[in-house]
Amino acid sequence: MLLPALDWHPQPRLERLHLDWLAHASVEVAVLRLDRIDPLISGNKWFKLLHHLLAAHQAGAAGVMSLGGAYSNHLHALAAAGKRFGFPTVGLLRGHPRETPTVLDLKAFGMTLHWLGYEGYRRRHDANFWTPWQSQYPGFWPVPEGGAGLPGAQGCMTWASCARDQLAALGWEDYHGWWLACGTGTSLAGLVLAEAGKRPVHGVLAVPEGHGVRQNVESIVSAAGLADPHYELFDGSRGGFGRVDSDLAAFIETTQAIELEPLYTGKALMLLKARVEAGAIEPGTRLIFVHTGGLQGRRGLE
Ligand SMILES: Cc1ncc(COP(=O)(O)O)c(C=O)c1O
Repeated sequence: MLLPALDWHPQPRLERLHLDWLAHASVEVAVLRLDRIDPLISGNKWFKLLHHLLAAHQAGAAGVMSLGGAYSNHLHALAAAGKRFGFPTVGLLRGHPRETPTVLDLKAFGMTLHWLGYEGYRRRHDANFWTPWQSQYPGFWPVPEGGAGLPGAQGCMTWASCARDQLAALGWEDYHGWWLACGTGTSLAGLVLAEAGKRPVHGVLAVPEGHGVRQNVESIVSAAGLADPHYELFDGSRGGFGRVDSDLAAFIETTQAIELEPLYTGKALMLLKARVEAGAIEPGTRLIFVHTGGLQGRRGLE
Protein backbone atom coordinates (compact mmCIF):
# COMPACT_ATOMS: atom_id res chain seq x y z
CA MET A 1 0.00 0.00 0.00
CA LEU A 2 2.83 2.43 0.81
CA LEU A 3 5.19 1.42 -2.00
CA PRO A 4 4.25 4.25 -4.39
CA ALA A 5 5.05 6.74 -1.61
CA LEU A 6 8.38 5.12 -0.85
CA ASP A 7 9.37 5.40 -4.50
CA TRP A 8 9.21 9.20 -4.42
CA HIS A 9 12.62 10.76 -3.81
CA PRO A 10 12.42 14.51 -4.40
CA GLN A 11 15.76 16.30 -4.87
CA PRO A 12 15.66 19.85 -3.49
CA ARG A 13 17.61 22.43 -5.49
CA LEU A 14 20.49 24.41 -4.02
CA GLU A 15 20.33 28.11 -4.98
CA ARG A 16 22.47 31.14 -4.18
CA LEU A 17 20.83 33.78 -1.97
CA HIS A 18 21.70 37.38 -2.84
CA LEU A 19 21.12 39.87 -0.04
CA ASP A 20 22.90 43.14 0.71
CA TRP A 21 23.80 42.31 4.30
CA LEU A 22 25.47 39.08 3.18
CA ALA A 23 27.41 40.81 0.42
CA HIS A 24 28.60 43.56 2.80
CA ALA A 25 30.00 40.98 5.17
CA SER A 26 31.44 38.78 2.37
CA VAL A 27 29.40 35.83 3.66
CA GLU A 28 27.91 33.52 1.05
CA VAL A 29 24.69 31.58 1.53
CA ALA A 30 23.06 28.93 -0.62
CA VAL A 31 19.52 27.82 0.15
CA LEU A 32 18.40 24.20 -0.06
CA ARG A 33 14.86 24.69 -1.34
CA LEU A 34 12.83 22.03 0.44
CA ASP A 35 9.89 24.41 0.10
CA ARG A 36 9.96 23.86 -3.66
CA ILE A 37 9.94 20.05 -3.86
CA ASP A 38 6.19 19.92 -4.42
CA PRO A 39 3.24 22.32 -4.27
CA LEU A 40 1.51 20.31 -1.52
CA ILE A 41 4.04 17.98 0.13
CA SER A 42 6.45 20.73 1.00
CA GLY A 43 9.42 21.38 3.26
CA ASN A 44 11.23 19.15 5.73
CA LYS A 45 8.04 17.16 6.43
CA TRP A 46 8.29 14.60 3.66
CA PHE A 47 11.86 13.74 4.65
CA LYS A 48 10.87 13.34 8.30
CA LEU A 49 8.00 11.06 7.30
CA LEU A 50 9.90 8.80 4.93
CA HIS A 51 11.49 6.36 7.38
CA HIS A 52 8.30 6.26 9.46
CA LEU A 53 6.44 5.25 6.28
CA LEU A 54 9.12 2.67 5.53
CA ALA A 55 8.57 1.14 8.98
CA ALA A 56 4.80 1.23 8.36
CA HIS A 57 5.29 -0.55 5.05
CA GLN A 58 7.52 -3.20 6.62
CA ALA A 59 4.83 -3.81 9.26
CA GLY A 60 2.19 -4.19 6.53
CA ALA A 61 0.24 -1.19 7.87
CA ALA A 62 -3.30 -0.50 6.68
CA GLY A 63 -2.92 3.27 7.04
CA VAL A 64 -1.02 5.97 8.92
CA MET A 65 -2.09 8.16 11.85
CA SER A 66 -0.39 11.08 13.50
CA LEU A 67 -1.02 14.26 15.45
CA GLY A 68 -0.57 18.02 15.30
CA GLY A 69 -2.16 21.45 15.65
CA ALA A 70 -4.69 23.27 13.49
CA TYR A 71 -1.88 24.79 11.34
CA SER A 72 0.32 21.67 11.35
CA ASN A 73 2.72 21.46 8.40
CA HIS A 74 3.32 17.83 9.35
CA LEU A 75 -0.34 16.74 9.16
CA HIS A 76 -0.70 18.74 5.96
CA ALA A 77 2.16 16.85 4.29
CA LEU A 78 0.92 13.49 5.60
CA ALA A 79 -2.64 14.06 4.41
CA ALA A 80 -1.45 15.29 1.00
CA ALA A 81 0.83 12.25 0.66
CA GLY A 82 -2.03 9.93 1.62
CA LYS A 83 -4.18 11.42 -1.11
CA ARG A 84 -1.38 11.46 -3.71
CA PHE A 85 -0.10 7.94 -3.08
CA GLY A 86 -3.35 6.30 -2.07
CA PHE A 87 -3.10 5.37 1.61
CA PRO A 88 -5.62 6.25 4.33
CA THR A 89 -4.65 8.77 7.01
CA VAL A 90 -6.01 9.73 10.42
CA GLY A 91 -5.13 13.05 12.11
CA LEU A 92 -5.47 13.69 15.85
CA LEU A 93 -5.70 17.40 16.46
CA ARG A 94 -4.86 19.65 19.38
CA GLY A 95 -7.73 21.68 20.78
CA HIS A 96 -11.36 21.96 19.73
CA PRO A 97 -12.90 21.81 16.27
CA ARG A 98 -12.07 24.82 14.10
CA GLU A 99 -11.71 25.40 10.42
CA THR A 100 -8.31 26.87 9.62
CA PRO A 101 -7.12 26.77 5.99
CA THR A 102 -4.90 23.84 7.00
CA VAL A 103 -7.83 21.91 8.52
CA LEU A 104 -9.93 22.52 5.41
CA ASP A 105 -7.07 21.06 3.34
CA LEU A 106 -6.77 18.03 5.63
CA LYS A 107 -10.46 17.32 5.07
CA ALA A 108 -10.16 17.88 1.32
CA PHE A 109 -7.22 15.45 1.21
CA GLY A 110 -9.47 12.82 2.85
CA MET A 111 -7.77 12.65 6.26
CA THR A 112 -10.11 11.45 9.04
CA LEU A 113 -9.90 13.97 11.89
CA HIS A 114 -10.42 13.72 15.64
CA TRP A 115 -10.11 16.69 18.00
CA LEU A 116 -8.48 15.76 21.32
CA GLY A 117 -8.98 19.01 23.25
CA TYR A 118 -5.92 20.47 24.99
CA GLU A 119 -5.86 18.06 27.91
CA GLY A 120 -6.22 15.01 25.67
CA TYR A 121 -3.44 16.28 23.42
CA ARG A 122 -1.10 16.74 26.39
CA ARG A 123 -1.35 12.97 27.00
CA ARG A 124 0.37 12.22 23.68
CA HIS A 125 3.59 11.20 25.42
CA ASP A 126 1.83 8.65 27.70
CA ALA A 127 2.93 5.06 27.16
CA ASN A 128 -0.59 3.88 26.27
CA PHE A 129 -1.64 6.96 24.28
CA TRP A 130 -2.01 5.08 20.99
CA THR A 131 -3.81 2.00 22.38
CA PRO A 132 -7.43 3.20 21.91
CA TRP A 133 -6.60 4.63 18.48
CA GLN A 134 -5.03 1.35 17.41
CA SER A 135 -8.24 -0.43 18.47
CA GLN A 136 -10.34 2.07 16.53
CA TYR A 137 -8.07 1.93 13.46
CA PRO A 138 -6.60 -1.59 13.39
CA GLY A 139 -3.32 -1.84 11.52
CA PHE A 140 -2.81 1.94 11.31
CA TRP A 141 0.81 2.93 11.96
CA PRO A 142 1.29 5.71 14.55
CA VAL A 143 3.80 8.41 13.63
CA PRO A 144 4.92 10.69 16.49
CA GLU A 145 4.13 14.41 16.35
CA GLY A 146 6.11 16.11 13.58
CA GLY A 147 7.64 12.81 12.40
CA ALA A 148 10.12 13.02 15.27
CA GLY A 149 12.77 10.60 16.53
CA LEU A 150 15.63 8.76 14.84
CA PRO A 151 13.51 7.68 11.82
CA GLY A 152 12.58 11.34 11.26
CA ALA A 153 16.23 12.40 11.41
CA GLN A 154 17.35 9.59 9.10
CA GLY A 155 15.16 10.98 6.33
CA CYS A 156 16.89 14.37 6.63
CA MET A 157 20.38 12.93 6.25
CA THR A 158 20.02 12.88 2.46
CA TRP A 159 20.03 16.70 2.35
CA ALA A 160 23.78 16.65 2.86
CA SER A 161 24.57 14.51 -0.19
CA CYS A 162 21.93 16.31 -2.23
CA ALA A 163 23.55 19.69 -1.45
CA ARG A 164 27.09 18.41 -2.03
CA ASP A 165 26.10 17.12 -5.47
CA GLN A 166 25.10 20.66 -6.44
CA LEU A 167 28.08 22.59 -5.03
CA ALA A 168 30.04 22.58 -8.29
CA ALA A 169 27.12 24.17 -10.13
CA LEU A 170 27.36 27.11 -7.68
CA GLY A 171 31.10 27.34 -8.17
CA TRP A 172 31.69 26.20 -4.57
CA GLU A 173 34.35 23.63 -3.77
CA ASP A 174 33.11 23.19 -0.23
CA TYR A 175 31.02 24.85 2.49
CA HIS A 176 31.61 25.65 6.16
CA GLY A 177 28.34 24.63 7.79
CA TRP A 178 24.55 24.58 7.90
CA TRP A 179 21.91 26.98 9.17
CA LEU A 180 18.28 26.01 9.81
CA ALA A 181 15.25 26.50 12.05
CA CYS A 182 14.52 24.02 14.86
CA GLY A 183 11.18 23.02 16.34
CA THR A 184 12.01 19.62 17.83
CA GLY A 185 15.58 19.49 16.51
CA THR A 186 14.90 16.35 14.47
CA SER A 187 15.93 17.91 11.16
CA LEU A 188 19.06 19.38 12.72
CA ALA A 189 19.90 15.96 14.19
CA GLY A 190 19.69 14.45 10.69
CA LEU A 191 22.27 16.91 9.39
CA VAL A 192 24.46 16.39 12.46
CA LEU A 193 24.42 12.65 11.72
CA ALA A 194 25.15 13.22 8.03
CA GLU A 195 28.10 15.50 8.82
CA ALA A 196 29.37 13.14 11.55
CA GLY A 197 31.40 15.96 13.14
CA LYS A 198 32.92 17.23 9.88
CA ARG A 199 31.09 20.57 9.63
CA PRO A 200 28.95 22.36 12.24
CA VAL A 201 25.16 22.57 12.06
CA HIS A 202 23.69 25.82 13.46
CA GLY A 203 20.10 25.58 14.65
CA VAL A 204 17.82 28.52 15.42
CA LEU A 205 15.23 27.66 18.05
CA ALA A 206 11.72 28.65 17.01
CA VAL A 207 10.55 27.67 20.50
CA PRO A 208 11.99 29.18 23.70
CA GLU A 209 14.80 27.40 25.55
CA GLY A 210 13.45 24.71 27.85
CA HIS A 211 11.35 22.97 25.23
CA GLY A 212 13.78 20.06 25.20
CA VAL A 213 15.35 20.59 21.77
CA ARG A 214 18.88 19.83 22.99
CA GLN A 215 17.65 16.68 24.75
CA ASN A 216 15.89 15.56 21.56
CA VAL A 217 19.00 16.12 19.49
CA GLU A 218 21.21 14.32 22.03
CA SER A 219 18.84 11.36 22.25
CA ILE A 220 18.67 10.96 18.44
CA VAL A 221 22.41 11.36 18.03
CA SER A 222 23.18 8.85 20.77
CA ALA A 223 20.57 6.37 19.45
CA ALA A 224 22.46 6.55 16.14
CA GLY A 225 25.76 5.97 17.95
CA LEU A 226 27.48 9.25 16.99
CA ALA A 227 29.95 10.12 19.76
CA ASP A 228 31.05 13.63 18.81
CA PRO A 229 28.17 15.69 17.40
CA HIS A 230 29.06 19.14 16.10
CA TYR A 231 26.17 21.62 16.43
CA GLU A 232 25.18 24.87 18.07
CA LEU A 233 21.72 26.18 19.07
CA PHE A 234 20.64 29.83 19.15
CA ASP A 235 17.44 31.17 20.67
CA GLY A 236 15.54 32.78 17.80
CA SER A 237 12.10 32.33 19.37
CA ARG A 238 11.60 36.02 20.11
CA GLY A 239 9.87 35.09 23.36
CA GLY A 240 7.36 32.53 22.11
CA PHE A 241 6.62 30.09 19.33
CA GLY A 242 3.73 31.91 17.71
CA ARG A 243 4.91 35.41 18.49
CA VAL A 244 5.38 37.59 15.43
CA ASP A 245 6.69 41.02 16.47
CA SER A 246 6.99 44.01 14.18
CA ASP A 247 10.75 43.57 13.60
CA LEU A 248 10.24 40.00 12.42
CA ALA A 249 7.28 40.98 10.24
CA ALA A 250 9.31 43.85 8.72
CA PHE A 251 12.30 41.59 8.08
CA ILE A 252 10.13 39.09 6.19
CA GLU A 253 8.42 41.86 4.28
CA THR A 254 11.69 43.44 3.17
CA THR A 255 13.45 40.16 2.34
CA GLN A 256 11.90 39.88 -1.09
CA ALA A 257 14.67 37.62 -2.42
CA ILE A 258 13.12 34.62 -0.68
CA GLU A 259 9.64 33.73 0.56
CA LEU A 260 9.68 33.19 4.33
CA GLU A 261 7.08 32.44 7.00
CA PRO A 262 7.27 33.88 10.52
CA LEU A 263 7.34 30.75 12.69
CA TYR A 264 10.50 29.04 11.47
CA THR A 265 12.34 30.22 8.36
CA GLY A 266 11.83 33.94 9.02
CA LYS A 267 13.24 33.60 12.53
CA ALA A 268 16.16 31.50 11.30
CA LEU A 269 17.27 33.91 8.57
CA MET A 270 16.74 36.92 10.84
CA LEU A 271 19.05 35.46 13.46
CA LEU A 272 21.65 34.74 10.78
CA LYS A 273 21.47 38.41 9.80
CA ALA A 274 22.02 39.46 13.42
CA ARG A 275 25.09 37.18 13.68
CA VAL A 276 26.48 38.41 10.37
CA GLU A 277 25.99 42.05 11.35
CA ALA A 278 27.59 41.43 14.75
CA GLY A 279 30.69 40.21 12.91
CA ALA A 280 30.30 36.71 14.39
CA ILE A 281 30.68 35.06 10.99
CA GLU A 282 34.01 35.40 9.24
CA PRO A 283 34.27 36.90 5.78
CA GLY A 284 34.58 34.14 3.19
CA THR A 285 32.25 31.79 5.09
CA ARG A 286 29.95 29.69 2.91
CA LEU A 287 26.78 28.43 4.58
CA ILE A 288 23.88 26.27 3.43
CA PHE A 289 20.55 27.57 4.74
CA VAL A 290 17.81 24.93 4.70
CA HIS A 291 14.44 26.34 3.67
CA THR A 292 12.28 23.97 5.70
CA GLY A 293 9.01 25.09 4.07
CA GLY A 294 5.93 25.83 6.16
CA LEU A 295 4.55 28.38 3.74
CA GLN A 296 1.09 26.75 3.84
CA GLY A 297 0.91 27.44 7.59
CA ARG A 298 1.07 31.19 6.95
CA ARG A 299 -2.53 31.20 5.77
CA GLY A 300 -4.66 32.35 8.62
CA LEU A 301 -1.69 33.93 10.40
CA GLU A 302 -1.71 36.78 7.91
C1 LIG B 1 8.47 24.94 8.40
C2 LIG B 1 9.19 24.23 9.48
N1 LIG B 1 10.50 24.47 9.65
C3 LIG B 1 11.19 23.87 10.62
C4 LIG B 1 10.59 22.98 11.49
C5 LIG B 1 11.41 22.38 12.58
O1 LIG B 1 11.75 21.04 12.30
P1 LIG B 1 12.23 20.10 13.48
O2 LIG B 1 11.04 19.81 14.33
O3 LIG B 1 12.73 18.90 12.75
O4 LIG B 1 13.28 20.82 14.24
C6 LIG B 1 9.22 22.69 11.35
C7 LIG B 1 8.49 21.73 12.22
O5 LIG B 1 8.62 21.60 13.35
C8 LIG B 1 8.50 23.34 10.32
O6 LIG B 1 7.18 23.12 10.14
